[in-house]
Amino acid sequence: MVAKNVMIRLATPDDAFAIASMSRDLIETGLPWTWTPERVTRNIRNRNISTVVACDGEEVVGFAIMYFGDEDSHLNLIAIEPVYQRAGLGQRLIDWCKKSCLVAGIARIDAEFRITNRSARAFYRKCGFRERALMPGYYSGVETAVTMTLPLRPGV
Ligand SMILES: CC(C)(COP(=O)(O)OP(=O)(O)OC[C@H]1O[C@@H](n2cnc3c(N)ncnc32)[C@H](O)[C@@H]1OP(=O)(O)O)[C@@H](O)C(=O)NCCC(=O)NCCS
Repeated sequence: MVAKNVMIRLATPDDAFAIASMSRDLIETGLPWTWTPERVTRNIRNRNISTVVACDGEEVVGFAIMYFGDEDSHLNLIAIEPVYQRAGLGQRLIDWCKKSCLVAGIARIDAEFRITNRSARAFYRKCGFRERALMPGYYSGVETAVTMTLPLRPGV
């Protein structure tokens, strides 16, 4: 079981390069690289954002970046290294974010994914997200985003 010893912890600026590289290779494929190490570092240092990493020993094998507002939150990015996928790590990262939101009294988690990303659609649906809208050109003016919401309170 590849994910047996994987631990989840808060990221530090030392993790920025690994996170940015995963974003470039697994999320922004074929688009300009916008989640550079500098941008990731700013997110890690931002008090309104939680960046969590899944680590196998010293190696970062997954991450999630989540913005916390007063009432709602936004999952900016999530990715798991291919050899560690389908082992429940993505769901563990979402659970970590969900628990933080529930403690903070946040009503919902918003997220979006590239319309061509079938894995993300299946994953978010499995995690309880509902599809909300399409945003043409959201990704660098060339690809549509599907926006999704995970309600954390009844009636949201
Ligand atoms: C989307 C992603 C984060 C899912 O992470 P993961 O650790 O593989 O997901 P999990 O193992 O927790 O999967 C939970 C459930 O989601 C669904 N799921 C996840 N990936 C799936 C896929 N490729 N096809 C179909 N269903 C999938 C399944 O129901 C799965 O449960 P199961 O394995 O018991 O059938 C991962 O595929 C990834 O990093 N993709 C590239 C980056 C990306 O697209 N990020 C999202 C947009 S920012």
